[in-house]
Amino acid sequence: MPGGAAELRINGARLLDSIACLAEIGATPEGGAERLAFTPEDGAGRDLVRSWMEDAGLDIRVDGIGNVIGRRAGEDPDAAPVMLGSHTDTVGNGGRYDGNLGVLAALEVGRTLNDRDIRTRRPLEVAIFSNEEGSRYHPDMLGSLVYAGGLDLESAWALRSPDGTRTLKEELEAIGYLGEAPVPGPVPAAYVELHIEQGPVLEAEGIDFGAVTGVQGILWEEITLSGKANHAGTTPMRFRHDAGVVAADAVLLARQLTREIPGQVATVGRMSFAPGLTNVVPGRAVFTLDIRNPDPDRLRRAEDGFFSGLEAAAGREGVRIERRELARFGPAVFDEKVIALVEEAAAALGGSCRRMPSGAGHDAQMMSRVCPTGMVFVPSVGGVSHNPTEFTRDEDVTAGGNALLTVAFALLKS
Ligand code: GLV
Ligand code: MN
Ligand code: MN
Repeated sequence: MPGGAAELRINGARLLDSIACLAEIGATPEGGAERLAFTPEDGAGRDLVRSWMEDAGLDIRVDGIGNVIGRRAGEDPDAAPVMLGSHTDTVGNGGRYDGNLGVLAALEVGRTLNDRDIRTRRPLEVAIFSNEEGSRYHPDMLGSLVYAGGLDLESAWALRSPDGTRTLKEELEAIGYLGEAPVPGPVPAAYVELHIEQGPVLEAEGIDFGAVTGVQGILWEEITLSGKANHAGTTPMRFRHDAGVVAADAVLLARQLTREIPGQVATVGRMSFAPGLTNVVPGRAVFTLDIRNPDPDRLRRAEDGFFSGLEAAAGREGVRIERRELARFGPAVFDEKVIALVEEAAAALGGSCRRMPSGAGHDAQMMSRVCPTGMVFVPSVGGVSHNPTEFTRDEDVTAGGNALLTVAFALLKS
C-alpha cells in the first residue's frame, strides 16, 4: 500500500469543483440551489452524482425509498462496510453545502483511495439519502429513517405530494429512483457524515472542527385553526372568531417558551390565512411549529406549554384547533469511539476541535439507531444555513474532507 494514513489527503480542488458543479443544478440567482426532494431537479442532481460514483467504479444500488448507495469493495468479503454520506436534496432557495458536502466528500474519499490504489479491509459505501430536508414530504430524514427500519416502505410510499396529486412512490418513479434494493438496508459497521455546522459556534470560537456528540430532539406539527370568516367592517370585535389572531398568539407563545425553558428553540416557519383577503376576518389559519431541545423532558414541557397556551387563546376567541404531527424524533447520541476518532483526526491534521451537539437534524441521527455513528462539523461563515448565501471557506471544506478521510480510513481498516 503506497503511503500511510499520515500522508493520505483528499484532492481538495476536485471536491470543491464537484460542489460547484452540483450547485449548477437548480442554481438560484443568489448563488444557492433549489432541489426539493423528488422533483426533477432532485433527480438531475442525483443523476450527476451517480454518474460520478460510476466513474469512480462504485457498484451502485438504489433502494425502494430512492437512497443511492455506491460500494467500493473491500478485501474481506465478510466484513460489513463503513458508510459515509448525507443528502443532495435542498430546502427551498437553499445553499450549496448543506448535505451536498457530506455526499461529495464521501465520494472524494472513494476517489482518493482509488488514486492511491489503496485496498481496505472493509468495503466503503457512499450514500445519498432521500428527502433529508422534509420540505415537501414529512417527516424529514425520511430516506435514512426507512433505511434504518424506523418507517415501513408502504407507509412512506403512500405519503402525498404537497398539492395532494401524487404519491411519493409515483414521484420516485417519475424521477427514475424507485429502486429495488431492500429496506431496511444492510447494517454498516459504522456511519460517518461530514456536514457544515449550520450555526455560529465554530466560527465564533475560531475552532476548525466539531466532533458531534448527538442531535437534539425535534417535534414538527401542522396546526389548523378554524374560526369564522366574516366582514372586516361590519363585524364588531366581540363577535369575531378570528383564526389569525390566535395564530399570532401562537407565534409569540412559541417565543415566550424559549425564554422559559433552557436550550429550547421554537419556530413558526409557515403560516397562511384563508380566505386571505384584506376585508375578511380570517376564518382559517394554518401554520407549522418546529420545536427542538437536546433534553427530552424539556421538549415535552415546551410541547405541553405551547398547546395549553394555544388552547387558552383559542378558547378566548372561539376558535377550534386541529393538530397534525409531521415529525417527532427523540435526541440521538453518537458513538463514543467514533467521536474520539473525529478528535484524533482533527489532531492529526493539526486542527482545533470541540465536542458539540447538533442543532440541525441529520441522516446520522437515523443511522445511529443501527450502528456506531458520528459526524464531523466544519465552520459555517456567519452561522448562516438554509439560505442561498450559506458558505464554508474552501480551506475548511478541504479540511473537513481530510478529517472524513482520516476517520473513514481508521474504520475501514478495523
Ligand atoms: C434539517 O435540515 C433540519 O431542519 O434540521
Ligand atoms: Mn443537511
Ligand atoms: Mn438542511
